[in-house]
Amino acid sequence: MSYLQSELAYRDLPSLLTHTDGTPVTAESWPRRREELLEILRVNSYGRTPAAPEKVWAEVLQENRDAYAGKALHRLVKLCFDTPKGVFSFPVNLLLPYAAEKAPVFIHINFRPNVPDKYCPVEEILDNGFALALFCYEDVIADSHDGNFDQGLGAMFREAGTARTSDEWGKIGMWAYACSRVLDWLILEDETDWRHTAVVGHSRLGKTALWAAAQDERFCLAVSNDSGFGGAAIHKKGTGERVADFIRAGSWEWYCETFLTYLDKEDVNTVYDQHMLLACIAPRHLCVGSAEHDSGADPKSEFLNCYAQNEVYSLLGSPGLVTPDEYPAADTALQEGTISYHMRSGTHFFSRTDWGYYMRYFRGMLDGDK
Ligand code: GCU
Repeated sequence: MSYLQSELAYRDLPSLLTHTDGTPVTAESWPRRREELLEILRVNSYGRTPAAPEKVWAEVLQENRDAYAGKALHRLVKLCFDTPKGVFSFPVNLLLPYAAEKAPVFIHINFRPNVPDKYCPVEEILDNGFALALFCYEDVIADSHDGNFDQGLGAMFREAGTARTSDEWGKIGMWAYACSRVLDWLILEDETDWRHTAVVGHSRLGKTALWAAAQDERFCLAVSNDSGFGGAAIHKKGTGERVADFIRAGSWEWYCETFLTYLDKEDVNTVYDQHMLLACIAPRHLCVGSAEHDSGADPKSEFLNCYAQNEVYSLLGSPGLVTPDEYPAADTALQEGTISYHMRSGTHFFSRTDWGYYMRYFRGMLDGDK
């Protein structure tokens, strides 16, 4: 057994390649396995996502055809869609570089609506030939840490004042739903190379990007920056955050009610773990970025989770993560396979260095060398 295989064996995770009924998973039965994994994650972690709306449309609020020294179009729209309680809308910034006829797209769900933002180097992204759809997660539902789901998108799908059912969606689910609505709209407008759309987020929004791509196969690439617990990191026997940390901070509301039953049970949980989340993205492309001093996000558990995907990717005929048999040192990027992993030096942040790795990987992917 190789070193990384023994590291993974120590985590003692539930099998990805065994169906719920105990039969082995084959390449042919993988779609059914993916559906089983999604169901496990809905019930235990993120809650159930409502169906997509019948109609999505946008109203233009502002348009600048001369953005970034005339290199790009910047349009701010109000993105609208139907819900059971009427129309819901939130603002989205779309940036289209003139240098590309139809550019591949990053949908970036960010902490702030700013263009540019400290987490989003807009001009560099455009200069690298990518379009960008950028929105602020709190315009979908406030990250209020108070368990109030009767606001924002949450209010559109529930009876106000009622307690959540055990598998009712949490806020990560709501933010992920919004990412898919942005993609609906990109497809409708057909101004971009929307078949090549990446969904990207940092930290809690990295968790969100992964859940969005896990559910919505139209995303060809998922980008998770420092997402940690509830994101790219394996929970079992990990060294980062725990369910107790989310309860203490009030961020338990990002998940469904059943998630709370795993308090202090992370190391004995035989029902689910985050390897199931990444597996739902297979065999599509995935970028996971960690930061060396981000102990809360547990970089080793993020890396090991990428490694854990190799049995799934190889079953599906894809290289997965290409790595030497060791944990990567700071400032290492492993970008040869269908899974890209990098370890940045420094702390919890979404830096230009991270973006550099993601853009390089996405470009290589488009050029067909992945
Ligand atoms: C908190 C939270 C983390 C999350 C982070 C962030 O630290 O506990 O799980 O990833 O915020 O979103 O910045």
